[in-house]
Amino acid sequence: MKDVVVLVGTGSIGQAIARRVGAGKKVVLGDLKLDTAQSAAKIFDDAGFDTSAIAVDISSRESILKLVEHAQTFGAVKNLICAAGVSPSQAPVEKILRVDLYGTAVLLEEFGKIIADGGSGVVISSQSGHRLDALTEEQNFQLATTPTEELLKLPFLQTITDTLKAYQYSKRCNVLRVAGQATPWGKRGATVNSISPGIIITPLAADELKGVRGDGYRKMLQASPAGRAGTPDEVGDLAEFLMSSRGRFISGADFLIDGGTTASYWFGDLQYLKATH
Ligand SMILES: NC(=O)c1ccc[n+]([C@@H]2O[C@H](COP(=O)([O-])OP(=O)(O)OC[C@H]3O[C@@H](n4cnc5c(N)ncnc54)[C@H](O)[C@@H]3O)[C@@H](O)[C@H]2O)c1
Repeated sequence: MKDVVVLVGTGSIGQAIARRVGAGKKVVLGDLKLDTAQSAAKIFDDAGFDTSAIAVDISSRESILKLVEHAQTFGAVKNLICAAGVSPSQAPVEKILRVDLYGTAVLLEEFGKIIADGGSGVVISSQSGHRLDALTEEQNFQLATTPTEELLKLPFLQTITDTLKAYQYSKRCNVLRVAGQATPWGKRGATVNSISPGIIITPLAADELKGVRGDGYRKMLQASPAGRAGTPDEVGDLAEFLMSSRGRFISGADFLIDGGTTASYWFGDLQYLKATH
């Protein structure tokens, strides 16, 4: 038996994180399509990792439970990396909420029941969630703590009609859900945190840059404090720290890694974007 790292969403960001924390462990690679997970497993196997690929749909609790069971056959689950998601250009409102908001919440809940002592989890949220206006204290509490099967019935989620808002609410919920889960994870001796990246060059970001909001994204990147997009490896480095022994005093927290874009959106050159978001 080995310590197990579970990665859900085997895109570039997830792979960058799993590469940093997976050496010497069993790396379970889950994605919506088995061939996507298998392609990632091949890259990992060729680099000396020990992997197992599995299809998982995080919008289904049943599918998540199968993943939990599969992962535990290899040993104690020490790490969960949730880097699965759909972006505003990839899916309609209902699907974004079902995958990004509900699916992530169920994943945290179910792995929170079995995560090993000394373990850690990281959820990839987004800078996009930091662009919503402040929610009420009650809304924050509801997103953080409402039982997962009731989440999608929350009244203020019923009024969302555009995909960007659905994505922003989902990503805000990821951050709040992590905060809500810090207590049960802590009782098992584990930490859980979220990372909110700015634009990171991956196939998902490339879809966005080609989509209806592409021109806006390019202009935003040029005018941002860093003046560029980020790379999956930069997100991987941050996640590695959070999941390492040096990160044990950090839990229930969110980390923006966006080259200063959010700060500029609220207080700097990117304030012009407020009119469009
Ligand atoms: N790339 C960026 O600029 C950026 C910025 C901020 C946040 N993010 C977030 O990072 C995460 C990873 O994105 P990425 O850029 O690596 O994209 P990606 O498309 O390469 O990876 C996302 C993966 O999630 C999988 N997936 C989609 N729906 C799923 C489901 N229902 N069940 C299981 N897997 C599913 C996809 O098949 C894909 O492999 C996403 O949550 C995204 O919202 C990305």
